Amino acid sequence: MQKLTVTSLLMLLFGSISSFSQQPIYLSSPDKNVTLKVQSDKNNAVSYSLTYKNKAILEPSLLGFQLNKPKIDLKNFSFISIDSTSVDETWKPVWGEMSNIRNNYKQLSLTLKENQSAVILKVVFRVFNEGLGFRYEFPTQDNFKHFIVGDELTQFNLAGNHKTFWIPGDYDTNEYLYNTTKLSEIDAVKAADKEPDIALKSVIGVNTIQCPLMMKTDDGIYINIHEAALINYPAMNLTLDKNTFTLTSHLVPDAVGNKAYLQTPFQTPWRTINVSDKATDILASKMILNLNEPSKITDVSWIKPQKFIGMWWEMHTGKANWDKASGKHGANTANVKTYIDFAALHGFDGVLVEGWNEGWEDWFGNWKENVFDFVTPYSDYDVNYLADYAKQKGLRLIMHHETSGSATNYERHFDKAFQFMKDHNMNTVKTGYVGRIIPRGEHHDSQWMVNHYQRVAEKTAENHIMLEAHEPVHPTGLHRTYPNWLANEAARGNEFNNAPNLALVPEHETILPFTRLMGGPMDYTPGFFHFQLNQFDSSRKTRVRTTLAKQLALYVTIYSPLQMAGDFPDNFNQHLDAFQFIKDVPVDWDDTKILEAEPADYITIARKQKGKDNWFIGAITDENSRNATISLDFLDNGAKYQAIIYKDSDNSDWQNNPESYKIEKVIVTKQSKLDLKLAKGGGCAISLMKL
Ligand code: NOJ
Ligand code: CA
Repeated sequence: MQKLTVTSLLMLLFGSISSFSQQPIYLSSPDKNVTLKVQSDKNNAVSYSLTYKNKAILEPSLLGFQLNKPKIDLKNFSFISIDSTSVDETWKPVWGEMSNIRNNYKQLSLTLKENQSAVILKVVFRVFNEGLGFRYEFPTQDNFKHFIVGDELTQFNLAGNHKTFWIPGDYDTNEYLYNTTKLSEIDAVKAADKEPDIALKSVIGVNTIQCPLMMKTDDGIYINIHEAALINYPAMNLTLDKNTFTLTSHLVPDAVGNKAYLQTPFQTPWRTINVSDKATDILASKMILNLNEPSKITDVSWIKPQKFIGMWWEMHTGKANWDKASGKHGANTANVKTYIDFAALHGFDGVLVEGWNEGWEDWFGNWKENVFDFVTPYSDYDVNYLADYAKQKGLRLIMHHETSGSATNYERHFDKAFQFMKDHNMNTVKTGYVGRIIPRGEHHDSQWMVNHYQRVAEKTAENHIMLEAHEPVHPTGLHRTYPNWLANEAARGNEFNNAPNLALVPEHETILPFTRLMGGPMDYTPGFFHFQLNQFDSSRKTRVRTTLAKQLALYVTIYSPLQMAGDFPDNFNQHLDAFQFIKDVPVDWDDTKILEAEPADYITIARKQKGKDNWFIGAITDENSRNATISLDFLDNGAKYQAIIYKDSDNSDWQNNPESYKIEKVIVTKQSKLDLKLAKGGGCAISLMKL
């Protein structure tokens, strides 16, 4: 880290510190495209603004807090000192979309003193070529130690009425469908009212929406607002003022209405603004990861990206049930054994088993604290036998810990639950938080739960267990710090195809990478090969809204080091030639090229397999068919590759002919161009094996 103190330079430019507080301070990104301006007005309110290639992205946007204890506002400041640094370094993630990540930014740290209370607050800004990250820091100081946040007053004052890809602000769920409207047309309450299939909603209000928030300006600039390194603090939603297009942070409250209980020294999560005139740059950005702390786990040798199947979709489609009393218990020894056999035959790393433990007869909807103990299998589930059988076959069972929202109960059982896993050769757990949270009154996204998810990440790491959470708070890049935390759900996943009223729409997967995935990998559970979901219950009208080729392409376009093959073996067995792509596609990468992208329309991504010379391409479209030509100029000079192209057939489309696909083999080189023809709701998956 190279450190340059510019206080003296600024003193030279602006005279004394008190007088430069009235003068703006500028800082530009290393490539000079992104410029931050910080200033204070005549009332000593401090604001920041942002330009990209000289165009306004954020107009002056205020900074500050309202505290409940001590009862003070932190809004009017004097400048105490200014410091700056620049960093240009490269680091290696344990797993990821590329093996080397460059972290290059200029930093400005302002130390401010609130004028009435004399509370000292720092604001640290990092300007990257990709945008801006900033956070507040409360240093150790006399007379100010413990404090309770009533509200964070951070603004993002947008320069226009942008096209916006949004979901309603909510304290408990992020499983909504995305809405695409102008900012002025946002109505989060109306959007939430359309969603009867989401079991627990805590909608905030008409004008409050969630981050990551994706926008596009009329002149083609892409803007994304999110947060990085959400630690010991509630999640941020954004409340829109439709007169000024100003978004203001809205933190998730706790059971008594406070936002956060803090103690100096403390630093908030980073507030992030990605900006570019290319949509592909938004997807390629590693800014959020760069703003997270390096791995806290020193021995990472046990952490492995993996592909798995699950005794799971049977329950969602009505073939089986989680609970034994239902009379069709899916997690019985004989059935799970068939999954292990299928997984072993096709080279999977694990088999997820849901409904293996006692408690499912009464697990949901009663805000009940003690549901599961996480160690007692149903009597027809021989866990000792199955764990050994899986081991003999070279794979492992994946544990399922549904907490039904009772985090307190889960924490009381942590130690025994993780020991039970180790005793049965399991090293990956899927957690779940369906239902109202206990401690009662807390929310999925409040400070207490944010700390709970982190405790689970730490506890599992101590036990050399990999983690993925369903129904958690939105991810913020913490998988850099806790690389055992492989993935999360935290959005509407592929399983929502089975929702009876408002399921998925074909554009959904073209929006997710611009929104939810900005914070980290998703357990989207792609890989459905059967599209009418009435195989076991003829009354069901639910269906999958993609083509089969698009289900394959999702393994590349939705990045995750933990990928499930969602459907059940019988359905894969109908299409083993297409299933080959799922077997071949890696879950860890040396490099990634975002070839084309437009939110809510299409995405094409190429990725290079970790430690190998093979590339894999995924291309997806929304409800419209699409023709595109992609250049393979990222391939090695002089090399030949066997391309296996899994594509929509001429007459496939998501609605009338989703299962129709073609597989073609051609030899390609760096000079080749491939014409892609995607059906309505379709996709294309390509493996490029170096010869
Ligand atoms: C919701 C999860 O998203 C799903 O995958 C799981 O099967 C159920 N909860 C039951 O835990
Ligand atoms: Ca569209």
